[in-house]
Amino acid sequence: MTHFLDIHSTAPDDLRAMIDTARATKEARKGLPKAAPDADLPLKDKMVALIFEKPSTRTRVSFDVGVRQMGGQTLVLSGADMQLGHGETIADTARVLSRYVDMIMIRTFEEQTLLEMAEHASVPVINGLTNRTHPCQIMADILTYEEHRGPIRGKKVVWSGDGNNVCASFIHAAGQFGFDFTFAGPEALDPERGFMDDARKKGVKVEVERNAEKAFADADLIVTDTWLSMHDAQSTRERRFNMLRPYRVDRKLMGFAKPDALFMHCLPAHRGEEVTNSVMDGPASVIFDEAENRLHAQKAIMKYCVEN
Ligand code: CP
Ligand code: NVA
Repeated sequence: MTHFLDIHSTAPDDLRAMIDTARATKEARKGLPKAAPDADLPLKDKMVALIFEKPSTRTRVSFDVGVRQMGGQTLVLSGADMQLGHGETIADTARVLSRYVDMIMIRTFEEQTLLEMAEHASVPVINGLTNRTHPCQIMADILTYEEHRGPIRGKKVVWSGDGNNVCASFIHAAGQFGFDFTFAGPEALDPERGFMDDARKKGVKVEVERNAEKAFADADLIVTDTWLSMHDAQSTRERRFNMLRPYRVDRKLMGFAKPDALFMHCLPAHRGEEVTNSVMDGPASVIFDEAENRLHAQKAIMKYCVEN
């Protein structure tokens, strides 16, 4: 049985195959109504549980639509409404759900919840975001980059802002897909050192540059995300924003990147905070392609999980 828990724990060949599958199924669906089924129906007669301990628009809708296109059915569950939120163990929840459903996608706070779910479930488990990582997002982002600019291998990706969960999965992807990665942000919000060291061991350049203008030089892709993630305390907002202001992505900063550099944001964005409207709506921005590609990338991830 195959879970999809993280990019760094999935073999590079498998990741590449998922991107190829996503591209092919996206192409095959061109012009079809959104509710029309895929030709191969890889989730025919399958039931998929989508568990959310945190809010979501894209993850929730893209998984739900994706499962239906693949011929399966979904149960969208709020963690707080389940016994999981009232003291039942994760292990028992995993065992019970495995009797009813064929796959589980979970968005959770602690990474440990995801890992325990995967350990005790007898069906595939997919990571729909934890405080530490967001691998489905970055699979969609790789697909998006390559659609616009060709292979990401050897390119320079710059993350500007908070070294958060989405940033962590980009660092994992750097090692697995073979691109260089520069983190531009304040020291207090650096990504986990272990993640950066692991990527370096895989032969890619991973750098930290406090000066945003220097960091953006020669970049092929600029990425940012909210300055206050769902797991961050509101009380830290002012301190974080004061540290992060020099890393706001605006037109001036984008001018230091390569002329054909792309801009990505996983969304939801806080326009005027981590990024300006001029960049969000500007010519480098591919934010809505990224959002669409959540659907195609996750369908490939689910197919990989059921077929392996
Ligand atoms: N990017 C992303 O995961 O969005 P949602 O929080 O809306 O699912
Ligand atoms: N870093 C953000 C991503 C949301 C999709 C969060 O965890 O809230």
